Amino acid sequence: VWTDFERTTIQDIFSKIDYAVVGQAAFSRCLIVYPWTQRYFGGFGNLYNAAAITSNPRVASHGKVIMEALEKAVKDMNNIKATYAELSALHSEKLQVDPDNFMLLGHCLTIVVASQLGKAFTPEVHAAFQKFLAVVVSSLRKQYY
Ligand code: HEM
Repeated sequence: VWTDFERTTIQDIFSKIDYAVVGQAAFSRCLIVYPWTQRYFGGFGNLYNAAAITSNPRVASHGKVIMEALEKAVKDMNNIKATYAELSALHSEKLQVDPDNFMLLGHCLTIVVASQLGKAFTPEVHAAFQKFLAVVVSSLRKQYY
């Protein structure tokens, strides 16, 4: 259950940010800070160091894809589990991604959003964003057993 504050805060964040910029920054940060996450992206070419990761066009485009998937959750905040049923099955069965990695990407996204929003990223806004990520992550975990 979402409060009015949480709903408006999440919608506001997603309306203010540039998906291409934030997606690229958050995803590349995840690959750099948690280097084991690189192993799922063997097909993305050169991820040899931070400079290679941040300039890799496939990292940039996949960052945007992730943000567009998050937008679907924002647009239907009461049905995030249903929205992500297929995506959860894909990450579990086909991609075999360790689900502990989902929140690691979430933390990277939080840092990038915080740096974009500056002072507007108050503890209350952070709490709402964290709750949104927790629901996203638990929905993505749903098809794992
Ligand atoms: C692909 C979303 C986290 C690994 C995808 C796709 C989406 C997506 C929308 C494309 C699916 C398609 O092509 O049908 C998300 C979201 C995440 C998340 C919303 C969490 C907030 C992760 C994490 C990892 C991961 C943490 C691994 C550490 C992959 C891989 C692919 C993929 C390997 C396939 C990429 C390719 O070869 O094009 N993800 N993802 N995902 N995801 Fe995730």
